[in-house]
Amino acid sequence: MRLYINVDHVATVRQARRTDEPQPRDAALLCERAGADGITVHLREDRRHIQDSDVRAIAAAIHTVLNLELATVDEIVDIALDINPHQVTIVPEKREEITTEGGLDLRSDRASARIRNTIERLSARGIRVSLFIDPNEDTIDRAADLGVPAIELHTGDYAHTWRNSDGALGQLKRAAQHGRSRGIAVHAGHGLTYANVHPVAAIAEIEELNIGHSIVSRSVMVGMETAVREMRELIDAAR
Ligand code: PXP
Repeated sequence: MRLYINVDHVATVRQARRTDEPQPRDAALLCERAGADGITVHLREDRRHIQDSDVRAIAAAIHTVLNLELATVDEIVDIALDINPHQVTIVPEKREEITTEGGLDLRSDRASARIRNTIERLSARGIRVSLFIDPNEDTIDRAADLGVPAIELHTGDYAHTWRNSDGALGQLKRAAQHGRSRGIAVHAGHGLTYANVHPVAAIAEIEELNIGHSIVSRSVMVGMETAVREMRELIDAAR
């Protein structure tokens, strides 16, 4: 199972003072040293954490691969085409949200047209495209119809409910199996922590996890390399 680490919140700490430390690029290199398979950043339209210069610096410095999260905003898609990351994960974005609140809406024609256009522009450049979607079969079928090679299942419901119920985990398992049966690579992420990652990492059909806030939080206490190694060990133990 690949572990991609989202270093957005290293930038959050820096932006709190609009200074030049800590640098997400340096964090990304430490993540790689400790066993990350890739680095993820979300270049938001409001630039609340990661800046354009961060994406360029990370893309130039890392030895693994860059997974760039973006919404269907032309200006941001242009930047992606210029930087040419290994993978783009298309996510929904709302200005007022604290973090990404759910998967893409593939039922609205207007949203789907924008997503289709973004997929076409990125795919034409050879960039692997993944869609961040809620774990339900109908949405997975719509993603499959759009022809993407990968989906990322939103684990937010699981992260909110895992202490009290198995329902969201069962839904994730069914969704992962359905995605594989449609021939799509299945990723997962959002709200995963040291406490709740094990059952998700144990789902055989999921091949990539994207984890950010929990690892960056722990890195404040124990350092980035230790924080990454601890997560890596939990994931490997679950497989
Ligand atoms: N996957 C996607 C698509 C996301 O938008 C995010 C948050 O930026 C993550 C994974 C990582 O979530 P978390 O920071 O809660 O681990």
